[in-house]
Amino acid sequence: LFRLGVLTSGGDAPGMNAAIRAITLKGLSAGFEIVGINAGYNGIFNLDTQILSAQSVDNIIQRGGTLLKTARCSQLREEDGPRLAAEKLTQLKLDALIIIGGDGSFRGAVKLAEFWPKPIIGIPGTIDNDINGTDQTIGFWTAIDTALDSIDKIRDTADAFERIFVVEVMGRDCGFIAMESGIACGAEQIICHELIEDEETYLAQLYNAILHAVTWRQTQSYVIVIAEHSLSICSAELAKRIADFTGVDTKSAILGYIQRGGAPVAMDRVLATQLGISAVKAVCEGKTGLMIGMKNNEMVEIPFAQTGLKNTHNQDLIKRLKHFNFDLTD
Ligand code: F6P
Repeated sequence: LFRLGVLTSGGDAPGMNAAIRAITLKGLSAGFEIVGINAGYNGIFNLDTQILSAQSVDNIIQRGGTLLKTARCSQLREEDGPRLAAEKLTQLKLDALIIIGGDGSFRGAVKLAEFWPKPIIGIPGTIDNDINGTDQTIGFWTAIDTALDSIDKIRDTADAFERIFVVEVMGRDCGFIAMESGIACGAEQIICHELIEDEETYLAQLYNAILHAVTWRQTQSYVIVIAEHSLSICSAELAKRIADFTGVDTKSAILGYIQRGGAPVAMDRVLATQLGISAVKAVCEGKTGLMIGMKNNEMVEIPFAQTGLKNTHNQDLIKRLKHFNFDLTD
């Protein structure tokens, strides 16, 4: 019996369950036994698995989190980690592995492949949307909607008090969540590190732009959406400095982990289902060492070596951000 392993790794993302479901149902129909590996790569080291049946994945397409749990596995990054993990995979009698995760998870897969010769296929699952070779990652659009829901609420109170708000969203080192949620909520400014060449100059321009807008009452409230890790100062400190410069009451809010939870939106369920089915198809065709992604609405196969982080100096992102920050020079 062909035993197909599946695991989720790294930050959980809404839609991972939909991918597990699709892989399980498609794999079962191909005649495979589906072995769920618990808690990411840790489940390989600990031989911690569960057999997935159609019943196990019933009613999970609409749930956030991941049925299989997830983790960031330090053991795999140790020198002997990949060799040991390969030994454990042999003990588990697996014939192929599908990994749902982000860039770190794919780097792990590449290391593992040096010692384990069977098919390994990846599916991009992270709210950050920071993986090369795919237009979207599972969880991204849900995270945007969750952030948007909160920012809209912050806008109400900002408007009522005529305050300035600094709202920090996730994205690790990547501005996509800030950009899309910022555009959608009509933010007056969107900040992410991709836009900043010199922080001091950037901040001076920012303070002046805000002062100009509040002085001329261009807006009753002023919302700044900022990606985490964009500046060397924290969001609370940024709010304080804006308040000092403009004389307008300024508050900060960090949205944090709520962005990772909740029921996946339709886009993420559909994407996860399509990617999951294509991943099983790739396994059936004996393919290995690649991520299934989606480009221009088509499923694509991208070798792990060509994935990697999409984050820095993404020209499209920078152009769009400048445009939406009403920078008319570009
Ligand atoms: O990769 C997804 C993500 O949520 C990032 O946006 C964030 O920076 C990071 O994970 C947080 O990681 P952890 O769960 O390890 O604190």
